[in-house]
Amino acid sequence: MTLERFNNFDINWEKIQNAVSTKTKAILINTPHNPTGYVWTQHDWDQLAAIIDGKEIYVISDEVYDSIVFDGRQHIPGFLQEPFNNKVISIYSFGKAFHITGWKIGYCVASKAISEAFRSIHQYLTFSVNTPAQYALAKYLQIYDPEEAARMLQAKRDLLINGLHSSGLRQLTTSAGTYFQLYDYSEISNLNDVEFAQWLTVTHKVATIPLSAFYKTPQKDRIVRFCFAKKDEVIEKAAEILRHIS
Ligand SMILES: Cc1ncc(COP(=O)(O)O)c(C=O)c1O
Repeated sequence: MTLERFNNFDINWEKIQNAVSTKTKAILINTPHNPTGYVWTQHDWDQLAAIIDGKEIYVISDEVYDSIVFDGRQHIPGFLQEPFNNKVISIYSFGKAFHITGWKIGYCVASKAISEAFRSIHQYLTFSVNTPAQYALAKYLQIYDPEEAARMLQAKRDLLINGLHSSGLRQLTTSAGTYFQLYDYSEISNLNDVEFAQWLTVTHKVATIPLSAFYKTPQKDRIVRFCFAKKDEVIEKAAEILRHIS
């Protein structure tokens, strides 16, 4: 069941328009989005283009889940947006597509001017990335099939959703990308989201991320994020445990 007040995670463009001022230097966006699984449409990009039109505002576009989109969707990259393609930097990570979170190897796509500016800072902050891993990834890229990887994760998403169907958890909008799915647990517990996540981990050995972790301040919503980038048997076991908690 969808929790209507989240309105499918549609972006409130009026709110964004009102938040932009002469002090705004950059807008940071993330698509596919962690934790909601929302994937930007061309309409979203057009709305952003209209808001920054004629202004010196840059777009920092976190697209690290670019290859993980479901149900026939396409990821639309920020760097392809003609109205502001000289003001955007699209950021990618091999960590997500190749299940190597923590290796911290990725790349950026931007105009020549932005790329030069970025590299002048990057060389002092990061200096270099470990070479053997870069070679390994270059080799793997030759056989990597992003569509196959997305299909595999979509099946895992559906396994989780079907497994939790008869549980006391209420599913928010079905994840359109990433490997996360949000659930409301308010029918099960009155604990706040951090306490609930701790209780679930300690008592039932199922780890989740409380939504408050994504905000500056604790949230009243009783929502947690499940990660379905797991072996099928792990998802099935977690779902079985979750169906029996009350
Ligand atoms: C939206 C988003 N951006 C960036 C990152 C960082 O990715 P990496 O650890 O592969 O550099 C993460 C990791 O969780 C993420 O969820």
